[in-house]
Amino acid sequence: MANQTNNKAKALLDWVDARFPLSKMMKEHVTEYYAPKNFNFWYFFGSLAMLVLVIQIVSGIFLTMNYKPDGNLNQYNLPAAFTAVEYIMRDVSGGWIIRYMHSTGASMFFVVVYLHMFRGLIYGSFKKPRELVWVFGSLIFLALMAEAFMGYLLPWGQMSFWGAQVIINLFAAIPVIGPDLSTWIRGDFNVSDVTLNRFFALHVIAVPLVLIGLVVAHLIALHEVGSNNPDGVEIKKLKDENGIPLDGIPFHPYYTVKDILGVVVFLIVFCAIMFFAPEGGGYFLEKPNFDAANPLVTPAHIAPVWYFTPFYAILRAIPSFFGTQVWGVIGMGAAVVLIALLPWLDRSPVKSIRYRGPIFKTMLVLFIISFIGLGILGALVATDTRTIVARILSIIYFAFFLGMPFYTKMDKDREVPARVTMSTTKQKVMFFVYTIITVVGAYLFAILI
Ligand code: HEM
Repeated sequence: MANQTNNKAKALLDWVDARFPLSKMMKEHVTEYYAPKNFNFWYFFGSLAMLVLVIQIVSGIFLTMNYKPDGNLNQYNLPAAFTAVEYIMRDVSGGWIIRYMHSTGASMFFVVVYLHMFRGLIYGSFKKPRELVWVFGSLIFLALMAEAFMGYLLPWGQMSFWGAQVIINLFAAIPVIGPDLSTWIRGDFNVSDVTLNRFFALHVIAVPLVLIGLVVAHLIALHEVGSNNPDGVEIKKLKDENGIPLDGIPFHPYYTVKDILGVVVFLIVFCAIMFFAPEGGGYFLEKPNFDAANPLVTPAHIAPVWYFTPFYAILRAIPSFFGTQVWGVIGMGAAVVLIALLPWLDRSPVKSIRYRGPIFKTMLVLFIISFIGLGILGALVATDTRTIVARILSIIYFAFFLGMPFYTKMDKDREVPARVTMSTTKQKVMFFVYTIITVVGAYLFAILI
């Protein structure tokens, strides 16, 4: 009986394979994709980013079924978009969990992606031959910021409205075309129902399509050149007689199991936030957004959501010169663009932080301090002292990137080993430990929900 079923499954697979390269693709990208055997904690975040992307798309589809992008006042004298969200929270069965899934997912997306990018930075994963993997990643980051910004307008609360107002007005600082450009983006002279409608269209279909396309390109580029690793050693350089990298292991089962561990731990954290602290202390869902958008009342303090605050702090820190505020806008844009240029700024032949010299390590620590510091300052009301600190931190931020071509050349890097530094015994022990944690974690997760 079992044999018969097996034969039928094999016949079906052969039928598909004769028409579509299913087995070939599975081999190339999963069962015979050889990844370095020394992946560590930092390598969880790529698969977690894919998981959050799926969570956002699925929860987004269900939210769209009950949401209305309508900024006009309804019979309760409230904007219809705002009451649609309240309706989802109070009346739609399971609506509250879908909404909290989506709002928690937005912040967790940035947590995961920032950690994922940081991994690339410390292990030099942006360097040759992975420049395009990094450039596609940077475009993903840009698209993700656009997606989050437009999504934030949809609940049509005070912060949605005024946040969009401030950010779209930035474009008006651009000389000559600025004022017309900002009107064109809004589709009106003020943020209005027209703006809400176009942001809705872009948020639910246009940008997600771009994001998915970019993620596919990101992974195709990665699998073409192979993954980097914590030692920054190119495993394709040393192969056995069958052409298999000596330091490589098949993605499946080793990393499928490892990634499941990451997923279980991540879902425990995700569910804990979603069920017990969905507002994320006022950072994931901000207090002013529980009030409906009111174009006549400006909130005392307008700040973007936490994941934009480092860039917002740079914007505020740069003073206006020659009577124009465009420098702040340029500075904020440059802070993002410089990330994409890393492959061409770093001149060191060494990839991983493990073998980098003291100057890079010092600059990296200063960069981390500046990024977190700017993030904190961007969320606070600007005072004279805070503006001075933000200026110093902005200078450090830019010095990290613009000084890189010089200090990475001068630095005293250490010698990189020929093979990755992890014993097979350690690999087996880790596999065992991961399996145990995954099973226990899955059990805890089941209890939690
Ligand atoms: C939706 C967002 C993203 C998704 C779904 C995603 C997905 C992935 C996956 C699955 C991997 C392979 C597993 C791993 O190495 O962790 C990966 C690797 C990589 N990603 Fe991303 N990624 C995203 C955003 C980004 C961003 C914003 C950057 C950088 C700007 C980036 C840069 C990289 C690099 C350099 C690698 C290769 C790392 C290595 O081999 O050491 N990714 N990505």
